Amino acid sequence: MSKDRSGTRASAVLWDGVRRLLEGCATGSDGQRRCSVVDLGGGTGGLAVRIASLGHTVTVVDPSPDALAALAQRTAEAGVAARVRGVQGDATDLAALLPAAGADLLLCHGVLEVVDELLATLRAAAGALRPGGSLSLLVAQWPAAVLARALSGSAAQALRLLEDPDRRWGAADPLRRRLDRAAVTALAVEAGFTVTQVEGVRTFSELVPGASVGSDADLDLLRRLDAQAAHVEELLPLAAHLHLHARR
Ligand SMILES: C[S@@+](CC[C@H](N)C(=O)[O-])C[C@H]1O[C@@H](n2cnc3c(N)ncnc32)[C@H](O)[C@@H]1O
Repeated sequence: MSKDRSGTRASAVLWDGVRRLLEGCATGSDGQRRCSVVDLGGGTGGLAVRIASLGHTVTVVDPSPDALAALAQRTAEAGVAARVRGVQGDATDLAALLPAAGADLLLCHGVLEVVDELLATLRAAAGALRPGGSLSLLVAQWPAAVLARALSGSAAQALRLLEDPDRRWGAADPLRRRLDRAAVTALAVEAGFTVTQVEGVRTFSELVPGASVGSDADLDLLRRLDAQAAHVEELLPLAAHLHLHARR
């Protein structure tokens, strides 16, 4: 299976979860939901473009000028530039960058793994959301990373992950840390959120070797397997990522 196929397949559970969170926004006079969305650490805006294509407005906050330049190009090509704004900045500067309590939904995907201050990041996220607004929080899970490395023959990295307090597999690991359900839930609660749902993302697609998914039918089955597994409590620790839905 190619990377592209993996990416498409991987995003299905997450995108479905984000769409459900968008349904919590008010409906305009035209009958359409119009959410004000912040994508914190939104990078090059893959998700921002999809959300803006549904008619919502998105502010992407990211410290990387390169990512924001790519975002501008991407939004122009997709015809959604009028609804997507890029703001250069750090998570902990959010209060100075955006109006307080202005957002209906804030995405924080793949960010807690790389920032200096986890709790300060989530507190800043809470400050940008209106009361009752939603947080979409995606984090990489360490138990799944241990399993994936052990199954792929990298037992030394799996061992390192198990032993390291930050759950990194080595000095070249691009992530500063990995979390688990208990840790990320505790952080969200401490930052003032109520967690309403936890879903597993890429439960099996991260583990199945690409070579064994040869056809569209195989891919469809794997997608269905991931979708079913997303809500099975016992399988959550095996998911490569956890998607928390939370309310401010
Ligand atoms: C792994 S990428 C995730 C990008 C995107 N959210 C996604 O899910 O594809 C992490 C992103 O966090 C951004 N980032 C790093 N440090 C940050 C910080 N202190 N505050 C906000 N964003 C940060 C990076 O520039 C990068 O775009």
